[in-house]
Amino acid sequence: MQTILIQLDTDNQASIFDRVVAIDSGVAQIFSCAAVTPETVTSLVHGAIFTRGPADLKHTAIFIGGSSAAAGEALQKKVLKAFFGPLRVSVMMDSNGCNTTAAAAIATARKHMPLTSVPATVLGATGPVGLRAAELLAAEGAHVTLVSRTQERAKAAAETIRERVPQAIVVAGAAADAQENEALCQGAEVVVAAGAAGACLLSQGALQRLSGLKLAIDLNAVPPLGLADVSANDKGVTHHGVLCYGALGVGGLKMKVHRQCVASLFEASDRVLDTQAIYEVARRTAGITT
Ligand SMILES: NC(=O)c1ccc[n+]([C@@H]2O[C@H](COP(=O)([O-])OP(=O)(O)OC[C@H]3O[C@@H](n4cnc5c(N)ncnc54)[C@H](OP(=O)(O)O)[C@@H]3O)[C@@H](O)[C@H]2O)c1
Repeated sequence: MQTILIQLDTDNQASIFDRVVAIDSGVAQIFSCAAVTPETVTSLVHGAIFTRGPADLKHTAIFIGGSSAAAGEALQKKVLKAFFGPLRVSVMMDSNGCNTTAAAAIATARKHMPLTSVPATVLGATGPVGLRAAELLAAEGAHVTLVSRTQERAKAAAETIRERVPQAIVVAGAAADAQENEALCQGAEVVVAAGAAGACLLSQGALQRLSGLKLAIDLNAVPPLGLADVSANDKGVTHHGVLCYGALGVGGLKMKVHRQCVASLFEASDRVLDTQAIYEVARRTAGITT
C-alpha cells in the first residue's frame, strides 16, 4: 500500500520545502492543501481517516506546516480533536521548521555536554524557534534566561514554557541592543541565538568577553549573522575557547531530523510529533543515548 502524506498548510501556498523533504523521506504520494484553517480542516481529516481500514491507516499521515507556528498549533489541536477510536493517523507539526530547528540545536548542545543545572541564555527567545529551544533546554534541566527586546514578551514566553514544562527554571530578560544582550549572557555556559533573520544579537569579540561560555549556537543564516563571532558554516569549531555552531552547521542535523520524523509517521497510526517528540528523534539522530 502506498504511503500518503497529507500536507495541511496554513499559508495561501503550500510549502515547496516541506514537499521536497517529504519526497526525500520516502513518501510515495503527497496531497497538498493550502490556506487550511481550524474551521475547514475537519472534512480534510475525515477524508484521511475514512478511506483506509484501521490496520492500514498507518500508511496515511498528516504534516502541518506554514509560516505561523501559532496557526500550526491551532490546526494541530483541531486535527487531533477530529480523530476517534482507531480512526486516526499520525501527525507532525513543524510550521516554518520551528520544531525540527529547535530540536536540532538543543540536541547539538546536548551531544557536547549534559545540560542539567547549566546556565543557558536564549536570545530572540520569543520567536517560534527560540521559544522551543528554550523549552527544550528547560526540559533538559538547564537554568534558562530567555531574552526579548521587551520585558512583556519575555515574561509571556517564560510563562508559556512553565506551562509546558512544569519543572522549568526560566527567567525573563529584556535587552534593547547587542550590549544588553551580552550582559544577559554573562555567566551562561550555553548561548543560543534564535533572533530574526539578519538581526545581529552579539557583536564581534563577545565570545572572548563572556567568561565561562562553553558553547554558542547561532540559527540565523542571513547576514548580518546573529552572533558576529560565529560563521554560518561553523560546525563544532572553537573560537576563543568556545565551541561554535552556525545556522548551516546545525542545518544538516535539522534536515536529517525532519526526514526521520516524516519517515517515522508511517510506523504507526497514532504518532503525534510535537516539540518534545521531535526532540526525541533529534537526540536519537544525534547519537545521544543518555
Ligand atoms: N538553520 C535552520 O535550519 C533554520 C530553520 C528555521 C529558522 N531558522 C532561523 O532561526 C531564527 C529564528 O527563527 P524564527 O522564525 O523563530 O524567527 P523570528 O520569529 O523571525 O524572530 C525571532 C525573534 O527575534 C526578535 N527580533 C525580531 N526582529 C529583531 C531585530 N531587528 N533585532 C533583534 N531582535 C529581533 C523577535 O523577538 P522580540 O520582538 O521579542 O525581541 C522575534 O520574536 C531565524 O534567524 C531563522 O532564519 C533557521
